[in-house]
Amino acid sequence: MSAPSDRPADIDFESLRAKIWQELQRAVGERDHEWRTPVLAGVDADGLPQARTVVLRQADPLPSTLQVYTDSRSPKVTELLRHRGAVLVFWSRRLSWQLRARVTVQVQTDGERVEAAWERVSRTAAAADYLAPAAPGSVFALTGPGDHASHHLAVLLARVESFDWLELAREGHRRVRFDESGACRLIP
Ligand SMILES: Cc1cc2nc3c(=O)[nH]c(=O)nc-3n(C[C@H](O)[C@H](O)[C@H](O)COP(=O)(O)O)c2cc1C
Repeated sequence: MSAPSDRPADIDFESLRAKIWQELQRAVGERDHEWRTPVLAGVDADGLPQARTVVLRQADPLPSTLQVYTDSRSPKVTELLRHRGAVLVFWSRRLSWQLRARVTVQVQTDGERVEAAWERVSRTAAAADYLAPAAPGSVFALTGPGDHASHHLAVLLARVESFDWLELAREGHRRVRFDESGACRLIP
């Protein structure tokens, strides 16, 4: 007989959803949180997958949005303007949780949200990333000081359409999908 587990057979979907958002919010503030650096996957102009690591900058359960900062000249911006559907993949060894967030991304290059983001970033070392004279991904060349007059920070505002949560556990893996129709357990 297997050892008795204190894990209930049923999953309380609402408290799980709340815990997921709680971890996402913690990840924004805690530098060591493994969910701070998810992978953002999208589709490039050739219809091929593209993925890269990003930093999670904001998580709001209401209205279900996640935010990432990027350089408005980066290839991912062109990609996301063309194809707004993307996936953010998070893995935490501590939690033994994988979270795949299916998102619809809005690229914001000006306005209040961008200025507030720049206000925060401009006081950190990361500011230099957004003041670089040449676009990310362009061929490296030694240049002069360049035009540092304006920044190129863009906010990727990702509306969460669905979550696919997977927990790895010795006593059995568990998987739940949350989407607009509610929540349901899936075979892991
Ligand atoms: C730990 C880590 C965090 C990163 N965070 C970001 C980020 O928040 N935003 C960003 O645009 N790129 C970030 N990058 C760089 C991207 O992974 C990527 O190399 C770059 O943005 C170019 O991507 P693209 O060519 O698909 O636009 C990060 C890379 C690492 C390794």
